[in-house]
Amino acid sequence: KIIPVIMAGGKGTRLWPLSRASAPKQFIQFVGDRTLFQATLSRVSDPELYEPAIVITNEDFRFLAAEQARELGATLAAILLEPVARNTAPAVAAAAAFVANRFGETAILQVLASDHEIVAGEDYTSAIRIARETAAAGKLVTFGIAPTEPATGYGYIEVGTELKTGAHAVKRFVEKPALAQAEDMLASGGFVWNSGIFMFQAGQVLAELKSFAPKAAEAAIAAVKTAQGDLDFIRLDADAFAASPDISVDYALMEKTANAAVVPSSFTWSDMGSWDAVWKLGKRDEAGNVISGNATIMDTKNSLIMSRHGHLAVQGLEGVAVVASEDAIYVGRLDDSQNVGKLVKHLAGAK
Ligand code: GDD
Ligand code: MG
Repeated sequence: KIIPVIMAGGKGTRLWPLSRASAPKQFIQFVGDRTLFQATLSRVSDPELYEPAIVITNEDFRFLAAEQARELGATLAAILLEPVARNTAPAVAAAAAFVANRFGETAILQVLASDHEIVAGEDYTSAIRIARETAAAGKLVTFGIAPTEPATGYGYIEVGTELKTGAHAVKRFVEKPALAQAEDMLASGGFVWNSGIFMFQAGQVLAELKSFAPKAAEAAIAAVKTAQGDLDFIRLDADAFAASPDISVDYALMEKTANAAVVPSSFTWSDMGSWDAVWKLGKRDEAGNVISGNATIMDTKNSLIMSRHGHLAVQGLEGVAVVASEDAIYVGRLDDSQNVGKLVKHLAGAK
């Protein structure tokens, strides 16, 4: 069976003010009745395919993760806690080391980002089965999504020849290209987006991380060795883990390995990265508005209007996001929503 590892330690600043330092986007309910984390957890809950999930997140989010899993009725194998945020390379290394100790080196992990909306139909399950077989054959497997625009926030994978399992070799992995390069890749064809879901054997990903990102790998392995466990949480050793550089698994490993494979996939996938994405995914009325919570609008088009507190009234606007949380309100153009992270940095500095 596959061992799911859910990464839930990111900050999600572009979705301010609903995504906050105290409760980042993966723990928030945007559309539908579950948070993104809960939706991720429920996608790996089929007991025929999966062992109970391991969650790896920051110390600060431990109660959110535990409480939201409980709410879903999901049993977790463990919640691994990072004392400081060092991005996804050491998180993956720590999870792989933990799994290798508990289940052996050849155990297969599925590592999942927890900030996506996915429709997990049959095409999803069949992609998972192909990936499992490919990982069992010794590959580091990614899932490729057909690109629709020259996005700069994703990894791009150049698809190579088909392997026996139905997956493809990876010719090249380019993490977060500049716009010009993204446009070139889109125009040339043959590239897919990295979905942020990975599948590989515990021992193998550890060995490759040791060779391509030795500092992150060693820090994570040491932090697992001297981790402190209590009933619900396993705390990675603080000093050991802090010695890791801050680096994502995409830069640290996927761009460098010669062993990557990709399963080109057609399931519905969306990164809930910005207000623009929330608007695109939401249920739009005839005027193109997505409205959630207590809000009244007039003469307003193609906008995202969300209130989690108080009554929001919007008049005479087009193409904007108006988002009211308990204690803050954001108003901005939807086509500017990649820049909300900058605003949040500015806010943090202003305090
Ligand atoms: N445990 C842990 N610790 N999790 C983390 C940390 C950390 O320090 N930092 C981020 N995460 C979690 C996030 O919560 C998210 O679920 C996942 O890891 C991916 O991190 P993001 O920060 O959201 O990455 P990204 O969206 O910029 O890029 C990745 O995803 C893209 C698809 O959405 C890359 O894998 C890209 O190649 C990919 O295209
Ligand atoms: Mg993301």
